[in-house]
Amino acid sequence: MTRKLFVTTALPYANAPFHIGHMMEYIQADIWVRFQRMQGHDVHFVGADDAHGAPIMIAAEKVGKTPQQFVAEIAAGRQQYLDGFHIAFDHWHSTDSPENTALAQDIYRALRDHADGSLITTKTIEQFYDPVKLMFLPDRYIKGECPKCGAKDQYGDSCEVCSAVYAPTDLKNPYSTLSGSTPVMKSSEHYFFKLSDPRCTAFLEQWTGGERLQSEVANKIREWFTKDEHGQGGLSDWDISRDAPYFGIEIPDAPGKYFYVWLDAPVGYLASLKSYFDLGKARARGEQRSFDDFINDPTVEQIHFIGKDITYFHTLFWPAMLQFSGRKVPDRVYAHGFITVHGGEKMSKSRGTGISPLKYLELGMNAEWLRYYIATKLSSKVEDIDFNPDDFVARVNSDLVGKYINIASRAAGFLTKRFAGRLSSDVGVEGRVLLDHLRSAHANIERLYDEREFGKALREVMLLADHVNEYVDQNKPWELAKKEGQDALLQDVCTVCIEAFRLLAIYLKPVLPALTAEVEAFLNIAPLVSADVHRALGAHTIGDYQHLMQRVDPKLLDALFEPPAAAVVEQPKPGGEDIAPTITIDDFTKIDLRIAKIVNCEHVEGSDKLLRLTLDVGEIDAAGQPRTRHVFSGIKGAYEPADLIGKLTVVVANLAPRKMKFGISEGMVLAAGHADGKTQPGVYVLEPGLGATPGMRVR
Ligand code: MSP
Ligand code: ZN
Repeated sequence: MTRKLFVTTALPYANAPFHIGHMMEYIQADIWVRFQRMQGHDVHFVGADDAHGAPIMIAAEKVGKTPQQFVAEIAAGRQQYLDGFHIAFDHWHSTDSPENTALAQDIYRALRDHADGSLITTKTIEQFYDPVKLMFLPDRYIKGECPKCGAKDQYGDSCEVCSAVYAPTDLKNPYSTLSGSTPVMKSSEHYFFKLSDPRCTAFLEQWTGGERLQSEVANKIREWFTKDEHGQGGLSDWDISRDAPYFGIEIPDAPGKYFYVWLDAPVGYLASLKSYFDLGKARARGEQRSFDDFINDPTVEQIHFIGKDITYFHTLFWPAMLQFSGRKVPDRVYAHGFITVHGGEKMSKSRGTGISPLKYLELGMNAEWLRYYIATKLSSKVEDIDFNPDDFVARVNSDLVGKYINIASRAAGFLTKRFAGRLSSDVGVEGRVLLDHLRSAHANIERLYDEREFGKALREVMLLADHVNEYVDQNKPWELAKKEGQDALLQDVCTVCIEAFRLLAIYLKPVLPALTAEVEAFLNIAPLVSADVHRALGAHTIGDYQHLMQRVDPKLLDALFEPPAAAVVEQPKPGGEDIAPTITIDDFTKIDLRIAKIVNCEHVEGSDKLLRLTLDVGEIDAAGQPRTRHVFSGIKGAYEPADLIGKLTVVVANLAPRKMKFGISEGMVLAAGHADGKTQPGVYVLEPGLGATPGMRVR
């Protein structure tokens, strides 16, 4: 029976280019999709950018762009990665699209207007609000002092210093990282999806049972929604609204309210599929029906590949949203672990332990080396995998090139030189036994691919390649080639090698699509499908052999891991120091800056740093007489008193008077200087522009 498959990968946030973790997910899904197609199944494989949400809105604002511009630029960069690594999505779309708006709003309305009682409810909740940015603050934009250990600049959920866990409202002296202002508590009405409704629990009990999820995922989920014997635990209602300003989709009949990004993100799977249908791309793949007919067909299997960090959204919220809006629910959710680099060290840009997929391609590294290497590590389990450079070189050079490619290169030369590329129509018993052995492995290898046990499948294939190489070693075609009267045998042995190579190519094609296209050209055959294991080339003529794949030069990995330049050369800082933490305009207006005239200036006896300035700030005393101030300033090294007398400058006029060894200082004159006064001396007193007069405020 031909399966009809609708396959997706998680929709990446449109705030950054792809990293190696994204590529791993796409490689896993792409291998599976290509395998299913080779089996003759119909697959529609779509992706999209996850464009909405506060972080993207804020990131766009920071660089002075509209969120739409911002995500469009990220989207424009996607194709080079997908093409570069041979990821064959049928369509790529965006959650910021008319299809997604319509679908998300439809699903919401269906939940709200459910015939057995609405699954949407509202509650007024109190949250931190940024009085300067005029917006509610997601937790990640609130920092403050840890309520436990007092460490400064800690996030709203936990302390990086003492590991305490708390709510953002527990922070001492909280501030908004967006504006620096002190957040205030403000209440607002929020919309909730009633996951606590017994209908939801009953449905999820059933949906998570059976074959849809990996067992370890199913067990975890059940912990999430099962109540204990005291009726505790279970699912809480899910807050699905955010207040304007928000980059997202408006909630119908709720002015100023938007869907939380995680509501419309998975709807993006359907939106991308709809756009793919509407553009006629599904028809090009042989699907004549409309989007609606296709998506409602109970025999269509809807399959989501995701990372382990987002199972909660895909195994609770998403199926429940679909179910109670009267739609078909996902058939499978396949969660994978995370890829780490260099023994599980956290990927860190500064240490240079990350791998940039783009740099990989720019170095001219073969994308299929990475596809192969990652595939050898993948299983159906939710396991993390590690990118180890030595292991990478070994797997590619010894297995892929040394075992597989080698078979063709050992046999092809003799066939083209001695037999004009013609294969024998029949081979000896030994050869037939070997080829039968290779063919009989197909059911097991296909099962392993279907179960996403790619590592195991490739181990099987490499064992078969070992057997072929043993056959070559025993039959020694290079010796046969030197002997008189052994031509027929030489042709038979080489024919067995080429036929074996073709069978292995079928097994490896899902992982190595570009290489296999070259193999097909070299063998002079039609694109390989799984059923081709049951055929034989017979008396066929192959093309010229051209070297199919290079070995990895380990030096390339050194280059790949080279720390980015920024990590070794320290970023220059303006004036030798970082810009101070953000303050608000209110903070700034607390400082009263005034134009002052330096009416006198003199050395201070006993001080090698200070000058004593007499300033006219336009003030009068109680008796109505002009009043001056005395200010000490550490500028002796830079100025002679005579140079300053008569000049205008700027003074902090409301600084608390300070008693110094040489007298009281009633303010502070503004001067510029480098942070490192030792290596970069020089102090420069500020002077106002022409026309300023003493007492004017600087703002
Ligand atoms: N936008 C959400 C997904 C919405 S799906 C409706 C998101 N985006 S993401 O860009 O952060 O992640 C996209 C996918 O990449 C997720 O499946 C995530 O698990 C996966 N990975 C992110 N880092 C990864 C690794 N280091 N290794 C493997 N996969 C990783 O989450
Ligand atoms: Zn702490």
